[in-house]
Amino acid sequence: MWLNNILETIGNTPLIKLNKITKDLPCTVLAKVEYFNPGNSIKDRMALKMLEVAEAEGKIKPGGTIIEGTSGNTGMGLALAACVKGYKCIFTTTDKQSKEKVDILKAVGAEVIVCPTNVEPEDPRSYYSVSKRLATEVPNSWYVNQYDNLANRQAHYEQTGPEIWTQTEGKVTHLVVATGTGGTIIGTGKYLKEKNPNIKVWAIDSYGSLLKKYFETGELDNNEVYPYISEGFGEDFVPENYDMQYIDEFTKVTDKDGAVMARRLAKEEGLFIGYSCGSCLQGVYNLKDQLKPDDVVVCIFHDHGSRYVGKVYNDEWMLERGFLDVKTFRQVVNARKSQKLISINNDATVLEAINLMKKYDIENIPVFENGVNVGAVSESGLFSKMLENGDIKNKSVSEVIEPPYPIVNMDTPLEKLSQFINKDNGAVLGKDDSGSFQIVTKYDIIQSLSK
Ligand SMILES: Cc1ncc(COP(=O)(O)O)c(C=O)c1O
Repeated sequence: MWLNNILETIGNTPLIKLNKITKDLPCTVLAKVEYFNPGNSIKDRMALKMLEVAEAEGKIKPGGTIIEGTSGNTGMGLALAACVKGYKCIFTTTDKQSKEKVDILKAVGAEVIVCPTNVEPEDPRSYYSVSKRLATEVPNSWYVNQYDNLANRQAHYEQTGPEIWTQTEGKVTHLVVATGTGGTIIGTGKYLKEKNPNIKVWAIDSYGSLLKKYFETGELDNNEVYPYISEGFGEDFVPENYDMQYIDEFTKVTDKDGAVMARRLAKEEGLFIGYSCGSCLQGVYNLKDQLKPDDVVVCIFHDHGSRYVGKVYNDEWMLERGFLDVKTFRQVVNARKSQKLISINNDATVLEAINLMKKYDIENIPVFENGVNVGAVSESGLFSKMLENGDIKNKSVSEVIEPPYPIVNMDTPLEKLSQFINKDNGAVLGKDDSGSFQIVTKYDIIQSLSK
């Protein structure tokens, strides 16, 4: 049996138990993995719903243009629907969003206008303002406005909520959602609370968003608003999709914690999910003291990791933002049982060097002459010299000496050290606070990076 078009694949996404990553949580945690939607995000659901409602209300006519300010996922859903139904799309987005997201939207036929992030929503340059202006200028256009369009939350009330209720056989006790427009959390939360008012609905917000404070105090505090790195959730205003009575608690997750958890989900569960999914699970950890063994927590995982390959899944991007707890030269040395450097003098014999290598199970030995580092001997270097001339054991180290190892600052991160290591050079040296040399080898670096 076939489907009539791609839009018929939207919804009915799997609910998948998390295993290793939740070992420090007392309860069952299930992930509603929304990247199984054709546009790889949950937003396909509400995009199609909003379009269908607009069609029914006569807000868009055949051949018309869909206009929206979107960080990518809603745009993808709208663009897929537009392909099938024969509309044009113009999207505005911010320069904070990953380039991949913009390119993907263009791939499915949308025109994308990138606007500055760090301006007020009312600023004429903001992506809200630009999309609103275009909607007045482009003939036969429909401005979607996912923030205030209540068909957004309706989609989740009709689909996401019932799916979770059925898939858990009514056992769900907590719903956890990284929240932006509010559509997902309010639509899903309302449905589930109508089924069982004891279900707790937890909202995950980002630092730099005013939603949590608004929820707790009713105050729209612009001091809460500042630029942040997390994508897709948190807001600098309160969209109309919010109906706070369906939310029990808000918690905030840092940009770093969300990113680190997203990477762990990929590695530990094989779930290559988006940034906000990491934030969502981190939020469960934030509130874990409230959880009991019988609880069944459902996390909504909004989108796919492919949209973040240049960001969260890029080691350099993570390093530059201080999101990776990278070990330094100093930390590797301090973790060793003995901090005494094994070295050899220039006038020692090769046999003595080999004996040191055997005794300490090492491959690289720095060579000193009158306290000055003049070079090195390595197992691989000695081996190739032995192949040339079998009888080198009684020669002096000075005859087989290799260039000295590079000397680096003790606080150099290991990732940077690997630049100095190559086939001719198996180690680097650093001087500790007492002025003594310490060594980190290729083996040390590999060991530490693979942990
Ligand atoms: C990746 C991601 N996470 C979370 C959200 C928040 O979902 P909602 O807008 O339904 O609150 C969005 C919405 O754009 C998103 O794209």
